[in-house]
Amino acid sequence: MDLKIYIETYGCQMNVADSQVASAILKAAGCSFTEDISKADVILINTCSVRDNAEKRVLGRLDVFRLEKKKRQGVIVGVLGCMAQRLKEKLLENPAVDFTLGPDSYRSLPAVLSFIRDRGGKMTETNLSTRETYADIEPVRTDSNGVSAFISIMRGCNNMCSYCIVPFTRGRERSRDPKSIVAEAKQLDREGYKEITLLGQNVDSYNWTDPENTTRKMNFSQLLEEVALACPKMRIRFQTSHPKDIRKGVLYTMAMYPNICPHIHLPVQSGSTRLLQKMNRKYTREDYLQKISDIRNIMPDCAITTDIIAGFCSETDEDHQQTLSLMKEVGYDSAFMFQYSQRPDTLAARRYPDDVPEEIKTQRLNEIIALQNTLSLKSNQKCIGQTYQVLVEGPSKRSENQMTGRTPQNRFCVFDSKGSKPGDFVWIKVLTCTQATLMGEIVEQPKSLIEKAEETIEEGLNDIREKIRKTIVRTKKTKDKTKKQ
Ligand code: SAH
Ligand code: SF4
Ligand code: F3S
Repeated sequence: MDLKIYIETYGCQMNVADSQVASAILKAAGCSFTEDISKADVILINTCSVRDNAEKRVLGRLDVFRLEKKKRQGVIVGVLGCMAQRLKEKLLENPAVDFTLGPDSYRSLPAVLSFIRDRGGKMTETNLSTRETYADIEPVRTDSNGVSAFISIMRGCNNMCSYCIVPFTRGRERSRDPKSIVAEAKQLDREGYKEITLLGQNVDSYNWTDPENTTRKMNFSQLLEEVALACPKMRIRFQTSHPKDIRKGVLYTMAMYPNICPHIHLPVQSGSTRLLQKMNRKYTREDYLQKISDIRNIMPDCAITTDIIAGFCSETDEDHQQTLSLMKEVGYDSAFMFQYSQRPDTLAARRYPDDVPEEIKTQRLNEIIALQNTLSLKSNQKCIGQTYQVLVEGPSKRSENQMTGRTPQNRFCVFDSKGSKPGDFVWIKVLTCTQATLMGEIVEQPKSLIEKAEETIEEGLNDIREKIRKTIVRTKKTKDKTKKQ
């Protein structure tokens, strides 16, 4: 199929990974890709429904695509992802849209495209599957930096947090065959990638059973270990963890393997137990703080980041204060912070009035952001004077002579490049920082504790050797004197 595809991606990293799967399916069907929309035969937009403003952004882009269609007859526009799943044929009423395909329907892309190209008309396919994991498809990473890549390890979500649309747009949770995950990781290693992020809406509930031998099972900490062992030279990250499901086993595995990065994204959403219950998160403030204390005990250098929602249904100032106090208590390294946005058909939309006035939501969100800014600054300031291994990602936007990269804790770093290139591991001594960035310089690899201990022993031995030598010389001199006499 000789079609030029242009693809735009919105939403979470799952969507980034999915666009790569869709690209692989299209490539196998003979399509090619362009980054220039005016050269495309097909415009695809992979969409997000998580908040109303995410959907608004996509609707704005569809207006632009409609103009493109007016300019050039025959251009096909397809909507993929969560908005396609949520709105189905309703989106076809938009004159820009020729077809909608939900997240479990990407295998139909070539058939849908050739049908519309040959016969015209509009189509929608949005059946959610209980099995599809696209395990056999090797993603085409045209949009990647060649250094880090995502691997999707599961799809869907069974949690039904009351505010969240994801379970409706992504369907039931299903885990991908670990053999295909490890094979994909090894392939990335061979291609020169240096970092992989294992992706799932709730990685801690990864649970795979071999269909040919149902006694063979694998949980997330076992999977993490398999990947870490299979690719010892690569950095391994994962997200998202769920506070109700993260187990100590995962923490021990992280602590045991130096190539698993010490960073956990652990969305809290709210600091108020009453609201957490209403959100159907299935943990209390105290449960959450216990998990934080487990992480700190097992991995003192682990970064902890979070997601927070301001102004959920019935949130009082007291609830909001509890969110602020929890943030201080944990001392998050960074956070994604959102204003509650009611999503159609969710439990919250059906049961609870969206009763926090817009200006109070905004005011609370601003307070949360202001607090996080000070916490992020504090967290970065603690790094000044320390040396970290940084994976170089690419040149800095501000200066050609500077490179950017990330520490194992996922802190963003800028430094003079001194000949380093994307994909290199360098050692950076942190000199200054802002709340968002560490600024440092490349230094020699610091000595490991074992090397330092060996040096101390060696110095001690040298001292003893010197003392023995001096004693021997002295004894010899005394002997010579005695002989002379
Ligand atoms: N599976 C992940 C991510 C889900 S979406 C998780 O469970 O954490 C990412 C974040 O968007 C959520 O953590 C939540 O903070 C936010 N979010 C989800 N639904 C929302 C809504 N209706 N309004 C505002 N924020 C929302
Ligand atoms: Fe949404 Fe909750 Fe599932 Fe995350 S765990 S995707 S917030 S339902
Ligand atoms: Fe958005 Fe769908 Fe991801 S709603 S956050 S793109 S799972």
